[in-house]
Amino acid sequence: MGFSEAQEELVLRSWKAMKKDTESIALKFFFRIFEIAPGAKQMFPFLRDAGDAPLENHPKLKTHAVSVFVMACESATQLRNTGDVKVREAALKRLGASHVKAGVADAHFEVVKTALLDTIRDAVPDMWTPEMKAAWEEAYDHLAAAINEEMKNAA
Ligand code: HEM
Repeated sequence: MGFSEAQEELVLRSWKAMKKDTESIALKFFFRIFEIAPGAKQMFPFLRDAGDAPLENHPKLKTHAVSVFVMACESATQLRNTGDVKVREAALKRLGASHVKAGVADAHFEVVKTALLDTIRDAVPDMWTPEMKAAWEEAYDHLAAAINEEMKNAA
């Protein structure tokens, strides 16, 4: 069974509700990642070099968080339309290369997935259902698999 219109709607509706608050959502998402995997902080050069400066002050932090959310939404739409994730080839190559360079491993994608789902659950508690969770999981898994595949080519 492919990704349904209802699943796409769940992903897009919750993202729309979160979008107005990307600043704080991005921050919560990162704090959750580092709560689950404190070592992951070392991968982000702009955090590694920041000493004890507060995380809130890093604009790049928001950029990565929003990329993950937006690309998972795009992945949901593509899954519904075509049954597959089609990130532009050039973009995917770049993503593969940058994540290999940063030292990202399979386990990190699981950490980021858990943090993503926890963040959405806490951001839209009134909308959150097992169906919504499953829809985000599937959209994320396909996207992560596409990036992973490209990482193997880049390694
Ligand atoms: C860089 C997206 C998962 C760590 C980036 C960039 C994007 C991105 C768009 C900017 C560079 C580029 O365009 O190539 C995503 C998406 C993910 C994901 C969509 C999941 C589906 C992860 C995971 C980790 C991670 C699991 C590890 C915890 C990093 C790091 C950088 C990066 C360290 C480089 C940051 C820098 O040097 O400024 N990612 N990422 N990403 N990502 Fe991810």
